[in-house]
Amino acid sequence: MIYYGKQTIDDDDAKAIVRALKSDLLTTGPKTKKFEVELAKRLGFRYMIAVSSGTAALHLSSMVLLNKNDKVITTPNSFLATANSIIYQQAKPVFIDICENGLLDLDLVEQRLKKGDIKALYAVTFSGLPFEDKKLRYLKEKYKIKILIDNAHYFGKDGGICDIATFSFHPVKHITTFEGGAIGINDKFIYEKLLQLRNHGIYKDDSMYPWGYEMRELGYNYRLSDVASAMGLSQLSKVDNFLAKRGDIAQYYHENLKKVAPLYKYDKNSSYHLFVARYPFETLDEKAKFFIKMREKGVALQHHYIPINSQPFYKDMGFIYNKKSFPQMHRYYLEAFSLPIYPTLSTDEQDFVIKQIEDIASI
Ligand SMILES: Cc1ncc(COP(=O)(O)O)c(C=O)c1O
Repeated sequence: MIYYGKQTIDDDDAKAIVRALKSDLLTTGPKTKKFEVELAKRLGFRYMIAVSSGTAALHLSSMVLLNKNDKVITTPNSFLATANSIIYQQAKPVFIDICENGLLDLDLVEQRLKKGDIKALYAVTFSGLPFEDKKLRYLKEKYKIKILIDNAHYFGKDGGICDIATFSFHPVKHITTFEGGAIGINDKFIYEKLLQLRNHGIYKDDSMYPWGYEMRELGYNYRLSDVASAMGLSQLSKVDNFLAKRGDIAQYYHENLKKVAPLYKYDKNSSYHLFVARYPFETLDEKAKFFIKMREKGVALQHHYIPINSQPFYKDMGFIYNKKSFPQMHRYYLEAFSLPIYPTLSTDEQDFVIKQIEDIASI
């Protein structure tokens, strides 16, 4: 079966893990620190904090950005964790429709910002496509909002506009630490607060007893282990190659898919975590039949994402999702599907995927 995503692990990763296993410290230690320093350099942040998942990164970020009842604009087209992290803080997600390219529609965002009651924008670089810096900067400055970018799909520098960026190192992402994530920030005060929250809200310094520590606020154990960080360092040393491979695969789909349309024009700035295509299915049942036929041929397509605000939990909270309020998301959900893309996908496998798609889409 060819899946939509898969980790790329080689002997160097395995050796790095074995070396870490044989060292004195398995929990957060020097390798985590090194991983954070290297990540910060690579992704263009002054500080980086490695954590146990992308969800943990979002949760801690929400703890420093949001208060109870704050309103936060976000997208229905993401993994649940983006919006859930707003709810963890008892703040309120405000869902806005997406554009043709699957990302939040920033013009609609601006219309909503005009009401003047929004604290923050949680935007997702969906599929790996970064936002236009100019537009984000304009929104941030004009409407005095905080910006969090959920970069679980994007692995690159942004224009330094966001207050916080979060990353995920789940196996299908650009690099993996099994489970894992990171928070990128430029503000020293927020950095120190996040470090404390990652470790139960504990503060220590040299003026204390040798065993001393103070719990100053309620935090969590969201630490990343040294073993996972050793894996992260090994993966990071290969990330440019991984990204180049993803770009090549995306380009090949663009050149060879005829009956289904890529979600957006080939874009060299996209990290291509996902390669999404569209076909004008009229119903979800029709789309499901296509998925089943593809699976019978050995290709496991995926759909990213079911609209978050259509989930029972969100409906129960009073959120409304329908075609009229979210016309783009509605059409996207009917039409979009994610094709296999990962660094070790061979051209033969890609040709096979393309042939099955073209054959089935023609029926
Ligand atoms: C857009 C987005 N945000 C957040 C997450 C959560 O990351 P993790 O699985 O590392 O907790 C994911 C992971 O699938 C994601 O795709």
